[in-house]
Amino acid sequence: MTATVRIRRGGQWAEFPCPDGESLVDAGLAARIYLPASCRSGTCGTCLVRLVEGGVHMSAEAWALSAADREDGFILACQSTPATDMVALDYDD
Ligand code: FES
Repeated sequence: MTATVRIRRGGQWAEFPCPDGESLVDAGLAARIYLPASCRSGTCGTCLVRLVEGGVHMSAEAWALSAADREDGFILACQSTPATDMVALDYDD
């Protein structure tokens, strides 16, 4: 399955495909849509973003994500792969 990822940043929406098993950050890079990221190992929190539509599978190595972040709907994009056909992320929230 290739999912469609939509992102809102600076009030603008963009979208790119994310092949099965690929992280949201890596799929964005492949489409030349650069999502905030640094360590890519789940430790720095640079890729923190609110998931506003769809679902993701997130690695157990999402160390930078607190319980409060999870309850508020945030994910780590570097540790997440799509679990649904459409995933929407809001970087403005
Ligand atoms: S880039 Fe560091 S936690 Fe995702």
